[in-house]
Amino acid sequence: MIYLRETVAGLISPWVVLSPTRFARQLQQFAATELYTHYDIAEVAERQPSPLREEMHRHANDELRHHGIFLDWARKVAPYVTAGAADDPSGSRSRLEREEVRALVAQPAAPHRRLPTLFEYMTYIFLSESRAVLQFKLYQWINRYDRRCREWIPRLLADETRHVGYSARVAREEFRRAPWTCTKGFFRVLGYILRQDLLDLLRLVQILGSGLVTGLLYYGVVTPYGLVKRAFGGVRRGRLRRAAPTGPVALDDAFWSRS
Ligand SMILES: [Fe+2]
Ligand SMILES: [Fe+2]
Repeated sequence: MIYLRETVAGLISPWVVLSPTRFARQLQQFAATELYTHYDIAEVAERQPSPLREEMHRHANDELRHHGIFLDWARKVAPYVTAGAADDPSGSRSRLEREEVRALVAQPAAPHRRLPTLFEYMTYIFLSESRAVLQFKLYQWINRYDRRCREWIPRLLADETRHVGYSARVAREEFRRAPWTCTKGFFRVLGYILRQDLLDLLRLVQILGSGLVTGLLYYGVVTPYGLVKRAFGGVRRGRLRRAAPTGPVALDDAFWSRS
């Protein structure tokens, strides 16, 4: 259940990859997620003792590098979609986007604030990273016709696989210390992830729903109304045309010169 979203996203990925506009937007979304994770992990890393702190900072820096890779990739796929931020990584728009993401990470709903214990946070990281690994592998396998998917995704996968490994190790160590408290924490993590997924699903339903309503209105109401008007409204339009004034009007120069 927890991997359902990534499985569906991976399976329908050719529909995204084959459209430069859709794919560039998807890559920008990936880039934003990587940046968010970078800031979130860096927050938690600061509270940890060495050597875990260094390990988490390495993870955070990997995510920042992935952010750059996805932006660069998006720019190569469709420069007209990414114009601005991706073209100028140190420019004001990029800085503004970074500040926006940093502000989001400071919100109470951010993982590092909702999941305060190390077990909960590392379990969340383990599940999120393994979901990312699944999605990237599906992207790589299904879109082998695309050279960049074939060559660039393995570069990211090496890092993501390491993130899965160390987060699982730390979560396991924490669990051994306090099994009962961690069991309760595990369900808190599941609840947090399912809530996030539900919000994403609602956003998707909203987008698809508004598209569906627009289509229904256009083809179900506006088009038939136009056809009916065209079939029966011709005579009336003709009458209106005949009734229109034919002499000079007040805004016409000829009207003023005559009067
Ligand atoms: Fe990443
Ligand atoms: Fe990662």
